[in-house]
Amino acid sequence: MSTPLAAQPIRRLTMSDLKSCADLAEDRSWAREEHRWGLLLSAGTAYGIDDPAGTGLAAVCVVTSYGPMDHPELATIGMLLVAERHARQGLGRRLMNHILQGAGSTQLTLYATPLGRPLYEKLGFTDIGEAETLLGHLRSPEHPPRIATRPASASDLPALVRLDTEVFGADRTHLIARLPAFADRLRVAEEGSTLIGYAAVWPSAGADAIGPLIARDTETAKALICGLVAGSDRPIRTVIDPGHEELLNWLKEHGLNSVTLTTLMTYGDRELPGDRFRRFAPLNMATG
Ligand SMILES: CC(C)(COP(=O)(O)OP(=O)(O)OC[C@H]1O[C@@H](n2cnc3c(N)ncnc32)[C@H](O)[C@@H]1OP(=O)(O)O)[C@@H](O)C(=O)NCCC(=O)NCCS
Repeated sequence: MSTPLAAQPIRRLTMSDLKSCADLAEDRSWAREEHRWGLLLSAGTAYGIDDPAGTGLAAVCVVTSYGPMDHPELATIGMLLVAERHARQGLGRRLMNHILQGAGSTQLTLYATPLGRPLYEKLGFTDIGEAETLLGHLRSPEHPPRIATRPASASDLPALVRLDTEVFGADRTHLIARLPAFADRLRVAEEGSTLIGYAAVWPSAGADAIGPLIARDTETAKALICGLVAGSDRPIRTVIDPGHEELLNWLKEHGLNSVTLTTLMTYGDRELPGDRFRRFAPLNMATG
């Protein structure tokens, strides 16, 4: 006899669960995004509940932690998914409670879909603002941004990690170090010999995804985006963090359309660390 769903344990997932994670995403009409799951399962910690029928996963959630490994300062929760056939039976809440209990004093943040938000609010997460996902072909601007950008090289990595830590507010070297392999292109903007921004583009379902995007100001963000898409005819997708109306408007004027709104949330009433003015786009919504 199989174990009832409520008694199924929560287990740590490994790379061997990648296909089951993609199947579960598909069950919820999300893209399979195996490339992204590969990053999440290697850089983050994934938890899952097996389907008692032995047909893969009933639920999954990924936590990516930042800062010192033995006492992370910040963690992003993402990819909370419960199979449609097991919805509204408490699995989402159970996984989230498990993560909250294990988090200790680590600050938690996430991007909530409209389906996830009621659960997060009940658990004590509060809104920071709306992040907007845009999709489309970027038209070349009549007045190209004047900031020069160039492809990143291996020797940029230390400065890139320093800038990222300052802006993100916690050390995410383990994620940034994976970017050259994960992304198709990685670009930096400099003023003199000082790095003032960087951005990556990576292969996502049906479009090239831009993120992370960290820049001194909107003009630098535009220049990095233009540099990343130059010579490509693929549509792009990017998630613009709250508070960047100028960049949002510019992207919409140049061919991108709004596709979804998600709510950036934090646990308790704590402000996110770092500098939100220079943080334009997350790597993806699951990692921040
Ligand atoms: C969001 C999701 C993970 C919730 O999982 P779940 O196991 O169905 O949720 P639970 O049964 O644990 O419900 C917990 C609470 O969440 C809320 N909730 C869950 N589904 C809801 C829905 N469809 N509408 C409104 N509230 C809902 C309820 O407040 C519920 O509390 P209750 O038990 O007192 O009614 C699930 O709907 C899902 O996988 N959705 C698709 C993917 C997604 O959007 N994930 C969120 C990413 S941020």
